[in-house]
Amino acid sequence: MTNKLVKEFKKPISGESVFIGPDVDEDIIIMALESSCDETACAIVKNGREVLANVVASQIKTHREFGGVVPEVAAREHLDAVNLIIEEAFEQSGLKPADITAIAATVGPGLVGSLLVGLNAAKALAVTYDKPFIGVNHLNAHVCANYIDTDLKPPMIALLVSGGHTQIIKVDDYLNQQIIGETIDDATGEAYDKVARLLGLPYPGGLNLDRMAPNGNPKAYKLPEAKVQGEFDFSFSGLKTAVLNLTRKLEKEHGAIPKEDVAASFQECITSTLFKKTVKAAEKYGIKQIVLGGGVAANSEIRKKFFALEDKGYKIFAPAMKYCTDNASMIASSAYFLANTMDSLEIEVFSRC
Ligand code: KG4
Ligand code: ZN
Repeated sequence: MTNKLVKEFKKPISGESVFIGPDVDEDIIIMALESSCDETACAIVKNGREVLANVVASQIKTHREFGGVVPEVAAREHLDAVNLIIEEAFEQSGLKPADITAIAATVGPGLVGSLLVGLNAAKALAVTYDKPFIGVNHLNAHVCANYIDTDLKPPMIALLVSGGHTQIIKVDDYLNQQIIGETIDDATGEAYDKVARLLGLPYPGGLNLDRMAPNGNPKAYKLPEAKVQGEFDFSFSGLKTAVLNLTRKLEKEHGAIPKEDVAASFQECITSTLFKKTVKAAEKYGIKQIVLGGGVAANSEIRKKFFALEDKGYKIFAPAMKYCTDNASMIASSAYFLANTMDSLEIEVFSRC
């Protein structure tokens, strides 16, 4: 087959060919594992859009004690959880290994020790059950989360905002995700988590800051918007420092920090920067579809700003909350739609893009 939306994978034991991709006529059921950071997840997804099982074991409670993710601890917790979540995914879906077409896992970017747990479990399953293995890029997968439960088709502009990345991606077709802008320092989620910590909010800070912000005045403090060279690039480390200086000043002058107002002002500043640049990219390329992805796509203010664009002729997509933060359904979806760009059993983990 020469169709670009289909890739031939080999079964590891029998060597038989299996064709994967959205242009294959038969149903394709992919089981996927995700373990790049602090969630161990397993999912089973039919034809890239229909979730048959979605299981996530979160490590939030463990890492809260340390105020952030400790890589060695994360890897050990993945090991404890991985077999249980696989069993649970089979139970949820009512399927048997024989019903699965292929097995996928995240190969990077992420914490190497954590990635190895999911990848090796998936490769072992692939060999045991003689299924093709598909190695998936975590960032592509956050964008593909938008295909779940929708009929979305490219072209689209994607805003990917997670704990480790902030990118504007031009998606011309299923296979082509071109990064046209990204942060030159802190990621959006990282900025959220650092500011949340300054305000004394528990890990994971982003969600807690988002819950606090609606109680404050977004115009209380004017925070700086960094000037960056690249038209669609971002910089958030100055913003984080500005919040640090502001909180120190407020504490010195008033003896206390009006946390709600600081949270609201920070949220307004960072979400309006993300919004403006993404819309500018959509305008430049004449693309009327914008999709959000990554943990910060769960943010209430980001969703509000973008969904308001639907009155101006845009179509906006954002994954359901459970598919914004790390999950394995998006990995399975990515393995299906981007099969042709993905590697098989020989692939190893990587920490950074
Ligand atoms: O995509 P994700 O689950 O993991 C990575 O791939 O990094 O994103 C996690 C990030 C964390 O920084 C977390 O604080 C942030 O997403 N986050 C939020 C919200 N929910 C999660 N940030 C702002 N508002 C939220 N509602
Ligand atoms: Zn992620």
